[in-house]
Amino acid sequence: MPSKDNVQIAPPEGRLGILIPGMGAVTTTFIAGIEAVRRGLGKPFGSLTQMATIRLGKRTDGRTPMIKDFVPLAGIDDLVFAGWDIFEDNAYEAALKAGVLERTLLDQLKEPLTAIRPMQAVFFPEYVKRLNGPNVKQGRSKMDLAQMVIDDIEGFRRSSGAARLVMIWCGSTEVFHTPAAVHQSLKDFERGLGASDPDISASQICAYAALKCGIPHANGAPHLTTDCPALIELARERQMPIAGKDFKTGQTFMKTLIAPGLKARMLGVRGWFSTNILGNRDGEVLEDPGSFKSKEETKLSVLQYILQPELYPDLYRDLYHAVRINYYPPRGDAKEGWDNIDIFGWLGYPMQIKIDFLCRDSILAAPLVLDLVLLLDLAQRSGMKGIQEWLSFYFKAPMTAPGLYPEHDIFIQLMKLKNTLRWMRGEDLITHLGLEYYD
Ligand SMILES: NC(=O)c1ccc[n+]([C@@H]2O[C@H](COP(=O)([O-])OP(=O)(O)OC[C@H]3O[C@@H](n4cnc5c(N)ncnc54)[C@H](O)[C@@H]3O)[C@@H](O)[C@H]2O)c1
Repeated sequence: MPSKDNVQIAPPEGRLGILIPGMGAVTTTFIAGIEAVRRGLGKPFGSLTQMATIRLGKRTDGRTPMIKDFVPLAGIDDLVFAGWDIFEDNAYEAALKAGVLERTLLDQLKEPLTAIRPMQAVFFPEYVKRLNGPNVKQGRSKMDLAQMVIDDIEGFRRSSGAARLVMIWCGSTEVFHTPAAVHQSLKDFERGLGASDPDISASQICAYAALKCGIPHANGAPHLTTDCPALIELARERQMPIAGKDFKTGQTFMKTLIAPGLKARMLGVRGWFSTNILGNRDGEVLEDPGSFKSKEETKLSVLQYILQPELYPDLYRDLYHAVRINYYPPRGDAKEGWDNIDIFGWLGYPMQIKIDFLCRDSILAAPLVLDLVLLLDLAQRSGMKGIQEWLSFYFKAPMTAPGLYPEHDIFIQLMKLKNTLRWMRGEDLITHLGLEYYD
């Protein structure tokens, strides 16, 4: 029977290697979680690719397969891992230090976790001010460093027997940075690598190496990385999918749930004050004003795009929005995020909403890492290249084509993601029009 698929999807044969710069809380929670799921010690809650269904056809058709049965994804048992970090701790030691998962669980996973040792990182202390570690590459130029990362990748490809690879940045947040002259074209960027241009960051060197090797890339942190013309050009030239930026977990996740609801009911917002305390290494890095600025930019932009004050000046023009993050060691990875929202309704009468989210950052982030690597691998096998806007669902600051504003409403993002999967497989898109049920 001829396929209805709009794209040809190569089957996910063989192993999928996951390359992760940064082996801290998120990475170790992700890898340990996969090992736990493999052994039946836990379930991958929070992951769409593992837990969610997708409706096909009419509501009366009763067709709702699991996403993982609808599109050909790599299996959990086919994943193999490699990472880089400035510290020498293996994944078991790093997971213990991160303090997210219980020791009793980690001890049952000690063997596979101990086997994952970080490769030497590309690291520039001027980009991440509060950290310093011994496991760092030394090169004559930034091009040299990129070549070393390429050698690491090819070494892992051989030693692991991986048939395909995906890279996802889970390293620390780099200082705020806008595209400079060196980011304007691939030629400029490569010249800049040779000249060790200070505007090229470590995360960009890793992304460059991945794309050069024909490997899709996702950015879990808020800094620039592939969100510049030079690396978008490289992704398109190498026919590789890319996605970013900044995992949408915790407080921004809450914001993108609440704000569309208030707007849907045409309720006004006068102020939104968000504050967080967290005590993990990420929190320590974010104490630095440069790294915090990267985070603040991605966190602040969300409300502007969702509430559209230019279209609804009476409701949102004077909105005061502030975001704070404070490093508070006693809490470790168990972050607390408070939101105070001053809203108004009929005739301008004021009301307040208070949210106190006692969340676990890495527990929320780990399933996003899993989904992103599986879906980027799917995109790559489907010949999809450049920015993958349908993966906006996972990000605080989704990358988009130049001139397009990002879509932040999580429900629109989810519909876009599922419709993209339907489109890939030649199924009808779901519009929710539904007039045919009443004919
Ligand atoms: N819910 C979440 O946890 C969440 C949400 C959104 C974004 N993020 C982002 O994900 C990233 C990881 O978060 P985390 O909680 O695991 O932080 P973490 O501090 O526990 O881990 C980051 C690791 O990256 C390493 N590192 C720093 N620079 C590096 C480099 N150049 N190359 C290789 N390794 C490097 C650090 O040594 C550290 O081990 C951060 O940028 C964070 O802002 C996390």
